[in-house]
Amino acid sequence: MVSHLGVVGAGYVGLTSAACLAHLGFRVTCVDNDVAKVDRLCAGEVTIAEPGLADLVVAGRTRSRLDFTTDITTLAGVDLVLLCLPTPMGPDGACNLDVFESTLAILGGVLRPGCVIVTKSTVPLGTAGRVPRLLGRADLPVVSNPEFLREGHAVEDFLHPDRVVIGADAAYRDAAEEVAALYAETGAPVLHTDPATAEVTKYASNAFLAIKASYVNVLAELCERVGADVTEVTHAMGLDDRIAPDFLTAGPGWGGSCLPKDTSALLRAAEEAGVDFALVRDAVKANARQQATVVRKVRCAVTGSADGSLVGARIGILGLAFKAGTGDLRDSPAIAIVEALARQGAILTAYDPAVGAAVGLGIHGVGVVSDPYLVAEDAAALVVLTEWPEFRTLDWTALARAVRHPVVVDMRNVLDAAELATAGFRRVGLGTSA
Ligand code: UGA
Repeated sequence: MVSHLGVVGAGYVGLTSAACLAHLGFRVTCVDNDVAKVDRLCAGEVTIAEPGLADLVVAGRTRSRLDFTTDITTLAGVDLVLLCLPTPMGPDGACNLDVFESTLAILGGVLRPGCVIVTKSTVPLGTAGRVPRLLGRADLPVVSNPEFLREGHAVEDFLHPDRVVIGADAAYRDAAEEVAALYAETGAPVLHTDPATAEVTKYASNAFLAIKASYVNVLAELCERVGADVTEVTHAMGLDDRIAPDFLTAGPGWGGSCLPKDTSALLRAAEEAGVDFALVRDAVKANARQQATVVRKVRCAVTGSADGSLVGARIGILGLAFKAGTGDLRDSPAIAIVEALARQGAILTAYDPAVGAAVGLGIHGVGVVSDPYLVAEDAAALVVLTEWPEFRTLDWTALARAVRHPVVVDMRNVLDAAELATAGFRRVGLGTSA
């Protein structure tokens, strides 16, 4: 039975796992090489904005179940190690495994015989099989246990998972059971598989979500052309249990730190395996096209023509994060769209409730403000790019007075057209001809 475990990496996956496992009763030592981060965590300060996470960290520290350290040798006596290291996508679309590999090389010299190695970070297919060589020893059981945590819901997803997938070779069945025991309290279904199946499941799930979202975005285009309403179509589709209502919302495209990286990694793996996964490729292409569609819609709204010039046009942007509930700008479609509009000569002012005005986007012609009403000043159009619910309750009458042209391009379909009309705004939506 595992009583003391190590978590390597105190990022969003590692810190959530460490704090939740301490909450579930395990003693956890979490290692990160960022001295300032470890100091803050030791003081109970959490800078990752995940609902419930800070409370769990403080509770874990109070109960002496959760330690943070930069010293990886403190893991010498642990029963199990969760690897929660960054595996970012390099410029060529491949996963960069430098940190993962160098950390395993160090762990190989530290861990006690029999310690279970668990890969939690998303890794290229086949990585589990390479772990013994990277550790420099073959006596440690290796288990693949991919995470399925959504940003903004990470604690909830860890403590109430839809499923737990545990991939291990038959020889490591006992180790797989020890990993399963970590989740016993959650009551989630546990699926025991081989390592390759576990690794594929992670990529397959994220790529399927990407396909679903791209499907809806292309459907939105069709709806606009034939006079249908995509929101009503997807509502009706989602009532079919086989389809389910989630991930059926049209938007400016999917982004974040996972879906773009994982679709790219799956495509690479498929190509290497000689499998033509055109569906995933098309979903990625449709995603890039969606950003161009949004830019075209903004151009139409501002100039009255798809080829009009945006040079000198003032545009107000509402929302920069890749989704509501986070300030994360990584691979945000909003950033790509803002960049494209700026390249075409527009002057942009942006507001996002989770992104401070001090954050310089480093894009020429784009300013970030901390007051949503400032984006409206003299604007030729307002553009909604993230689905923050609070955008609905802005004083749209005041905004109408501030803008030069009262038109709002609502690319998340979050605003109420009738209310906007009362305030004097014309609303351009997504996936509807109205
Ligand atoms: C995603 C998965 O949902 C998690 O299950 C997974 O564990 C995680 O990646 C990961 O691999 O770590 P996350 O990146 O936090 O989670 O974000 P999602 O909530 O999946 O949203 C991804 C993107 O899809 C966002 O840009 C969102 O706006 C977009 N989206 C989502 C749509 O465009 N339409 C929808 O209907 C739903």
